[in-house]
Amino acid sequence: MIFWRIKSLDSMLATAAKKSLHRSLGVWQLTLLGIGAIIGTGIFVLTAEAAQKAGPGMMIAFVIAGFVCAVAALCYSELSSMVPISGSAYTYSYAVLGELIAWMVGWALILEYSVAAGAVAVGWSGYFVGLLNSSLGIKIPFALVNGPFAGGIINLPAVIICILVVSLLIIGTRESATFNATLVAVKIVALTAFIALALPVADMNHFDPFLPLGTSGVAAAAASIFFAYVGFDAVSTAAEETKDPQRNLPIALISSLLICTLFYLLISAGVVGAVGAQPLIDATGEGLMPGSREMAAQCKLLAAVGQQPVVCSHEALAHVLRQIGWEKVGNLIGLAAFLALPSVILMMLFGQTRIFFVMSRDGLLPEVLSHIHPRFKTPYIVTLVTGLVVTASAAFLPVGKLANISNSGTLFAFLVVALSVMILRIKDKNRARPFKAPVIWLVGPLAIGGCITLFLFLPTDAQLVFPIWTGVGLIFYFLYGYRRSHVLLGISTPPGGENLIEPIRSLVNHEEGERDKEK
Ligand code: ALA
Repeated sequence: MIFWRIKSLDSMLATAAKKSLHRSLGVWQLTLLGIGAIIGTGIFVLTAEAAQKAGPGMMIAFVIAGFVCAVAALCYSELSSMVPISGSAYTYSYAVLGELIAWMVGWALILEYSVAAGAVAVGWSGYFVGLLNSSLGIKIPFALVNGPFAGGIINLPAVIICILVVSLLIIGTRESATFNATLVAVKIVALTAFIALALPVADMNHFDPFLPLGTSGVAAAAASIFFAYVGFDAVSTAAEETKDPQRNLPIALISSLLICTLFYLLISAGVVGAVGAQPLIDATGEGLMPGSREMAAQCKLLAAVGQQPVVCSHEALAHVLRQIGWEKVGNLIGLAAFLALPSVILMMLFGQTRIFFVMSRDGLLPEVLSHIHPRFKTPYIVTLVTGLVVTASAAFLPVGKLANISNSGTLFAFLVVALSVMILRIKDKNRARPFKAPVIWLVGPLAIGGCITLFLFLPTDAQLVFPIWTGVGLIFYFLYGYRRSHVLLGISTPPGGENLIEPIRSLVNHEEGERDKEK
């Protein structure tokens, strides 16, 4: 039974111990890694979409999405402290629920990371275009900065940034810890400046009506804004490079999430309070769909009469500051997003190639995908394939649609992690759990229920992409991985497989990574 093709936790831990990667990441570096992957297009751009779906009630949406992530993070923490090795949710489910579910999770993670990279690229494009316009007076034609869904042709800046990031990944660029910390600082300073300027001018009248589109609007906004929290799982993928992972991983996962939740709450309050955040509605009283032609047309009409509601903005935070008279600081926030968002794209794409690696190391994906470039020593084929898909999606799809599709894959992965923790509590009671999720029989079901609920409130097209993607994955699995699985064939260490994993250690010290490679 493929369900019972299970990798033993003990053998995984033994392999990990043999690899003895340099464990150099401490709790601060890990937390910064988490914040670096979390703060991105979600808060900088999708805040406008959340406002369009929920109005001022988007503040509750941020709390709901943050809560679902927090309970999922507790489950992640328990598993990652027990199994401190790479591969994230895919690895955990291989050990607990067997190969078939692991394959489905890995396949869903591919959707999560690659589509998320596309979404962040489109978000970056919005800030780039706004920055060019407000600081240099350069206007790029609408048709060249919007895909067909919003009535344009192609999102050219998004295509360019994707090509740049993919090229960097192919030639082997990694962020150093210092670089990551600098970008995190840039984001934190930008968000703090926003809060400091927007909150004091908050007008309580802007909070009324608080729920213009009802509670279902809030739930729909939560399902979309969930994207703003995606990325904390990047911390757990660094398990093999972490000092004292049992202690540091859970602390870093939870603290990066808490810090971001606090920022998000204050920022959404700042947006609503400073300029108001009422949605645009159609003739029947329904909210217009963000990213749609109808919405773009309505925004154009309003702009023609000098109105620029935040729900129309592609650079929400910069827009709000400009509206309240802080034109220059608004431009600086735009600059911060312009500088920092590409690193989120890099992290998402890096996470994606990592999952591909682990899956091909297990024999479930063709090894050719993870061929290493002789000169750059990077997995150029898998990066190119991923890059093509990401670039195409960023070129033609609006940011909200991409984020929703990515969320559908992430929600599935989180659900399986929560399920795995509960199953392990029964199946493997006595294994040491350096971090134990508190009240698991409440936290686990809350995580599962939360993921299912958010999925149900995603737009129908995003809901449909997930089963179609999973279906394609299953066909591929039964045609390929089912027969070639290393667990089935009893292959424990794949030929050269360990070299395929480019560890995060280079995040800490690139030179150290280079030295290790030479050994
Ligand atoms: N959470 C990340 C972002 O908002 C993916 O860009």
